Parts: sequence; structure tokens; C-alpha cells
Amino acid sequence: MFSNGSVKVDGPLKGVRVLDWTVWQFGPVSTSMMADMGADVIKIESLDGDSGRGLWRASSLTMDLGGGRNAYFETTNRGKRGMAINFKTERGREIVYKLVKNADVFVQNFRQGVAERLGMSYEKLSEINPMLVYGSANGYGPKGPDSHLPSFDGCGQARSGLMMSASDPKAEYPTRVTQGVSDQIGAIMLCQGVLAALVCKHIQGKGQKVETSHLSANMWLQGMGMTMSLLNNGRSFQSYDREAPTNPLSNLYKASDGKCIQMMHLQPDPYWEPLARVLGLEHLIDDPRFSDMAARAENSAELVKIIDGVFATKTVDEWDQALRASEVDFIYAKVQSVEELEQDPQVIANDYITEFEHPVLGSVKMCNHPNIYSETPAGIWREAPELGQHTEEILIDELGYDWDDIQELREAGAIL
Ligand SMILES: CC(C)(COP(=O)(O)OP(=O)(O)OC[C@H]1O[C@@H](n2cnc3c(N)ncnc32)[C@H](O)[C@@H]1OP(=O)(O)O)[C@@H](O)C(=O)NCCC(=O)NCCS
Repeated sequence: MFSNGSVKVDGPLKGVRVLDWTVWQFGPVSTSMMADMGADVIKIESLDGDSGRGLWRASSLTMDLGGGRNAYFETTNRGKRGMAINFKTERGREIVYKLVKNADVFVQNFRQGVAERLGMSYEKLSEINPMLVYGSANGYGPKGPDSHLPSFDGCGQARSGLMMSASDPKAEYPTRVTQGVSDQIGAIMLCQGVLAALVCKHIQGKGQKVETSHLSANMWLQGMGMTMSLLNNGRSFQSYDREAPTNPLSNLYKASDGKCIQMMHLQPDPYWEPLARVLGLEHLIDDPRFSDMAARAENSAELVKIIDGVFATKTVDEWDQALRASEVDFIYAKVQSVEELEQDPQVIANDYITEFEHPVLGSVKMCNHPNIYSETPAGIWREAPELGQHTEEILIDELGYDWDDIQELREAGAIL
């Protein structure tokens, strides 16, 4: 079994070493996914630390967990070891160059030009290790007039069209989805890009640079609709109009307790008759206004009003039971809040929220790695590191420095 520092892990990325020079959410989540998969991820921070450590509040949540721990940083950096190295000193850069020799992956998400300025460009690092996979993320892509601009989550959501896609067409303002989803999809794409490049390294024997951006990842999140629009000469893929959808059997309905059900019958004709029976609308089954998909699309506003009226007579759980009681497998889901997920039997059965023994916080629950591997489990192996927690350990055990060197490095301002 591979040892990731002092922790035994046996994930699919066992034996892969990742140097993680990332900040906030976009970069750190991509590498924490690699850590979940068993990679030995060394987070390298400036002597001031990743600014994400200082995030005070996110939406309605305060970040301070006590014991010097921060919910944002714990979430985005779990599973990593940590070093604090000043790249603005020659001796600091030298440490990274030594680490790069034996690393598989280097990841960074600074603004265009920062890595070059600090001697951490792909060109420089690949001279040291030509087989290196270098993952890089920024706001709007590596080329173009805005490639140098700073970007945070909302910028990605705004510029990529995602906010418009998430909004009711009649809403006065577009909707911004919470929780940094634009960073999260960016992180997933960055991780995916790095993993593909690792496969390439093993099969084709080439190292390379992989670049993603808020803009590209969030466009790709909508890639199906965007491409279909382009194929339709640029005609737009409209956001949903709940009151007049193309298909009223693929629509949102509110129950008497204010909770909603999302129906998803994309091939609705076989479902119309049994659904009408569950809803007590037998008299409409053969009504020519609703009898097939085309007729329902034509008269959708009328049918939605009727179904709205029926849905308002029972709670969401009563509708759930009524739909489940049918012989037909209706395709729908109750609309849940994130808080409700902890009690969702599917979440529990699949360990999608898992418990982890944190050395400072005690037993904590976290959203688990999303994929289940039959042979090499992914999971949460260790907590996020404190700033520079493993600097000495890595310098001495893995790079051959001694305590005198460490003293000198400290005096030179190269390490914390
Ligand atoms: C996140 C972001 C907006 C932050 O912008 P910023 O605070 O202005 O930071 P920059 O990326 O321009 O530069 C980082 C600074 O940290 C310094 N730094 C980082 N790590 C360092 C290290 N180990 N040693 C020395 N200096 C370090 C850099 O030198 C630079 O400072 P300088 O300009 O004084 O040289 C920007 O990095 C960005 O747009 N990144 C790409 C998109 C992204 O990932 N956004 C975050 C989404 S969660």
C-alpha cells in the first residue's frame, strides 16, 4: 500500500505525486479530488498562505470552525500535505525545482503571467522534468484580450451564459447559483484534463501543459445546449418557462406544502394516461387539446394551470406516495434543499455524505468523492494542512536537507 505521508491510502491515483500551487476554490478543488483518489498532493503556499484560509463568510455560513480551522479551506484542501515556500527567493524556488524532478503533476491557478514571473512556468518546469503534467487555470483562457484579467466564480457564471440559462425568462435579474459552482466545474475540468494528460504520459510518453478556464468549463457545462443552438444557426436554447413549457410532463409543480416535484418525462406520450389517472384527470385523457405531445405543447399553458390546481391539493410526500403506488415508473424527483440531503436514503446508502475523524474538529461530515471505485477506493484520507505543516518533514525526509539547512532557509525568508 502506498503511503501518502503518514497516511495509508490505496486509491486509483496511488503513487501519483502532485505539486499543488493553487488558491481559493478553482485550483484547490481539482487537486483535492486527486487527493481523494489517493494522489500524494503537496499544497505549496506563499508564506502568507492561500487567501482562501481567511474567507470569513460564504453566503449565510460563517467559516470559522474553531481550533484555527476554516470550513472553506478544510473543504477545498482536504487530503493534502502542506508546505510554505517563498518563490520570490532563489532558495525557495530551488526547493520546488527539486520537488518537480520527482513529481508527476504541477497545478496552478494564478493570473496569467504570475507563474512566469516567479519561475514556475511550464517552460521552466518541463526543462527540469519533461514528463511533467502541468495543469493551469485562469478566468478567460490563455489567449485573447482578457486573458490577463482576474476572475472569481460569479465572473465565470456571468460571462459563460450560465446565469441566463439558470434564470426564469421573465425574471428581472439573472440568477447566480450559490456555492461557487463555476469554480467547482472548473476544478472538475482541470482534474479531468490532468488525468487525461497522465494517461497520455503513460501511453504516449509525453508530458504536457493542460489549460482550462472559468469561461471554457462553464461553456462546456452547457455544451450540449450551446452546440445545439449553434447547429440551429445560433437560435437560442431558451431557459425554462414553467408556465408554458414545451412539454408539461417535463415541468415543475408545487404541492400544498410549498415543496415542488420536478417531472422529467422526455418521451411523455406513454405517461400521459397513467399520470392523468394519478392526478384524477381521467376526463382529459382523450381530450384532443392534450392527447399527444404536439397537442400538449400547443396547449401547454392551459394544461400547466390544470395540473397546478391538482398539485396544490396534496403535500409533496403525498404526491410522492401516489406516484410510487402506480404500476408505472414515473420519472420525477422531489426538489430538495442541500440540508435535506443528509437524510436522503440514497445519499446514506451510497455514502455520498461521509464521516471523517478530523484530528482537531473530531467527527465531521463531508460531501464524499462522487465516484465509487470497486477496487481502489477514493475517500477522505486526511484533513487540510495547516500553513507549512509539512515543510520540515518533506525537506528532511524527501529532499535531503538537514536542520542547519532549515535554519538557513528560514533566515533567508525562503520558508516559514
Ligand atoms: C484568484 C485571483 C483573482 C487572485 O488575484 P490576485 O490576488 O490579484 O493574485 P494574482 O494571481 O494576480 O497574483 C498572486 C500573487 O501571489 C504571489 N504569490 C503566490 N504564491 C507565492 C509564493 N509561493 N511565493 C511568493 N509569492 C507568491 C504572486 O507573486 C502574486 O503577487 P505579486 O503580484 O505581488 O507578485 C487570480 O489569481 C485569478 O484570477 N486566478 C485565475 C482564476 C481563478 O482561479 N480564480 C479563483 C477562483 S476560486
